[in-house]
Amino acid sequence: MLPLPKLPALPSVDRLINEFDVMLRTLAAPAISERAHPDAHIDEAEMSEADKTHAAGLMRVNHSGEVCAQALYQGQGLTARDPKAREALKQAAHEEVEHLAWTERRLQELGSRPSLLNPFWYAGSLAMGVAAGVIGDKWNLGFLAETERQVGAHLQSHLHTLPQQDAKSRAVVEQMHTDELGHAEQAVQLGAAPLPAPVAGLMATTSKVMTSLSYRL
Ligand SMILES: [Fe+2]
Ligand SMILES: [Fe+2]
Repeated sequence: MLPLPKLPALPSVDRLINEFDVMLRTLAAPAISERAHPDAHIDEAEMSEADKTHAAGLMRVNHSGEVCAQALYQGQGLTARDPKAREALKQAAHEEVEHLAWTERRLQELGSRPSLLNPFWYAGSLAMGVAAGVIGDKWNLGFLAETERQVGAHLQSHLHTLPQQDAKSRAVVEQMHTDELGHAEQAVQLGAAPLPAPVAGLMATTSKVMTSLSYRL
């Protein structure tokens, strides 16, 4: 029988209150970006209603992805044992808040709104993050690296399908793509273990369900 993983120390009450605050801010308050929005210097293009709806659907998916990222990083940060890994998770989560702000504003500009399902995605991702952290740091980081790689591939696919003239959404997605690959690389440098193929496959299937629902809802 495999030895059970040693459980991480339980977080303090202060820490839990702080994490609860992060959840409320992610789901209910406007996110703020310290970096300039990547599309700040680009003018809004003329787009048909159909193109606008499609671009908004894709940006809603990306926004939901960032809500999931907040919850994942939060769950993993709560249970990671290595202080270096915890610090890296915190720094990456900070950049994800910026992604949240960029996609949120872009949704408003396209006359749309975030997904109504975000609280469900948040809860599921938080549970996955905590579980990955409990199993152990190298798997925690492996899960993170795989998530970031899959998100990166996903963003790349959006660059093929976003309306050609929507340079603003494209600029946001391009910068997010660069950042996500940086997060994946950082996780590998910190000792991420490659995930077994069936786990990576299951993650890809879960993300397909999330993306097709968030696109519409
Ligand atoms: Fe992100
Ligand atoms: Fe990321």
